[in-house]
Amino acid sequence: MSTPVLVAVAWPYASGSRHLGHLAGVYLPADIYARFQRLKGNDVLMVSGSDVHGTPITVRADTEGVAPSEIADRSHSEFCQQWNALGITFDLYTTTGTPNHTAATQEMFLSHLKKGFIYKKASEQFYDPVAERFLPDRYINGVCPHCMYEEARGDQCENCGRPLDPVDLLKPRSKITGSEPVMRSTEHFYFRFSDLSEDVAKWLRTRKGWRPHVLNSSLGWTDEGLQDRAVTRDLDWGIELPVDDLGEGKCIYVWYDAVIGYLSASKEWAAQNGDTDRWKRWWQNDDALHVYFLGKDNIPFHTLFWPAQLMAYGGLRLPDIVAGTQYVTFSGQKASASRGVGTTIGDGLKFFEPDALRYALASLMPEHADSDTSIGEIVRRINNELVATWGNLVNRVLSLAQSVLGGIFPEVNAEATIAEEDRSLLAAVDGALLVEADQIERVALKAGLRTAMETATKVNAYLNATEPWKLKSSDPERAAAVVATAVQAVAGVRIAFSPYLPFSTEALGRVFGPITEWKRPELSQGLQLAKLPPLFSKVDPATFES
Ligand code: MF3
Ligand code: ZN
Repeated sequence: MSTPVLVAVAWPYASGSRHLGHLAGVYLPADIYARFQRLKGNDVLMVSGSDVHGTPITVRADTEGVAPSEIADRSHSEFCQQWNALGITFDLYTTTGTPNHTAATQEMFLSHLKKGFIYKKASEQFYDPVAERFLPDRYINGVCPHCMYEEARGDQCENCGRPLDPVDLLKPRSKITGSEPVMRSTEHFYFRFSDLSEDVAKWLRTRKGWRPHVLNSSLGWTDEGLQDRAVTRDLDWGIELPVDDLGEGKCIYVWYDAVIGYLSASKEWAAQNGDTDRWKRWWQNDDALHVYFLGKDNIPFHTLFWPAQLMAYGGLRLPDIVAGTQYVTFSGQKASASRGVGTTIGDGLKFFEPDALRYALASLMPEHADSDTSIGEIVRRINNELVATWGNLVNRVLSLAQSVLGGIFPEVNAEATIAEEDRSLLAAVDGALLVEADQIERVALKAGLRTAMETATKVNAYLNATEPWKLKSSDPERAAAVVATAVQAVAGVRIAFSPYLPFSTEALGRVFGPITEWKRPELSQGLQLAKLPPLFSKVDPATFES
């Protein structure tokens, strides 16, 4: 029976280039997981899109003096092109700017309103007297009241990860004019998160196998009790309210609508595939599995607020796993798209082959703790690990296949030539695939990659021990058996690397054919073992010395 697996990937703000930290923490792990689940024969629906609303986009548009839509369009096409170049296999990558998404958001808003989970309230908000406007979210900076971080933004503290309201900030300053804001009354819709605080806490306690930092921070927030939060903003860039009682200049808050993207994109995908009800197989199904991939600062929105929105709406599946990551730092500094720290994905793609970049970032994934990297570290991992171990093994075995086997996979099983060391190598490869499957299922992707790499190392060690190049003249039959064993082992290790390294896996398809399942393939006698150019090239570190 195949399980419907929703791979829900955080929607990047279409506010400018994303950096390698986003790739290592969100898109790459999602893709590795999705590729593995497909090979296991499950029904994967992997969705995301560009998050085109909110103040990250309008602040950027103000800075550049262009329309928000221009920033969003430019970023969206950059992202689409990069997912393609990196082999990120979304079933649908859309945007929150579609009529479909607006409809889904307004529908959920009206349902929440009707059930009393959304209510209207006037409150005092920060207003910039010079710019003559309210200052939502990222239009305001100040000191975080929780951790005293000086540069907290009105929507969230980047240091402690807590979602904030601009009015929470100490020493607030307008980002537009630098002036000290004044308080002014304005009406907004609020979501009754306080009513669902207990339910969310209870639900969190039933979650199994979550990363401790994700679960513990979330439980900590529910211990304090969730507060009601405004779900509308004094902005004209965002989803229009489906009710007109707030007057002009207000729209739905970006975080209320963006998370609905997982659902709206599933509906859009279903419609595009000719069956408008197909999304229900993932969303209204007790056997489905929903796995979310996101960075540290997105955690509360996926472990508290989105589950609360879903609970209030009813009838839809809640997250099974929220695979939140920590931060990637670049030479000790936290990367930040809005502050321009860190190597962009575009530059990463200019410097490195996509599989090489995927390898280095997967080995540096910040699953449990912040992970520091630099260009030098990425180069080192590519050269000393990927090229030296896996790339080298493939070259070695394919050239032995020419010199010892004449490029044709021989008849195996001739009892006389199969030694214990051959059987145990293949058993090790098969065992590694089982271990790695368990790791990837638990979203321990760095460990899964290590398993694949250790298996490649074992095959190299097997060749060093058996030295088939020497046996070639003294014992040609044994030499052939050894190389045939190594070829079979490589066919298995290729499976182990396949979720991580799709391009070189594909290149190896010229030898072994397409991969159809998570299992070492049986190679048939007479299979042509084609020669291949090296899978990866060494990176010259001198390129990066300035
Ligand atoms: N746009 C947000 C960010 O880049 C993430 C939104 S994820 C979703 O931090 F849940 F809203 F989809
Ligand atoms: Zn803080």
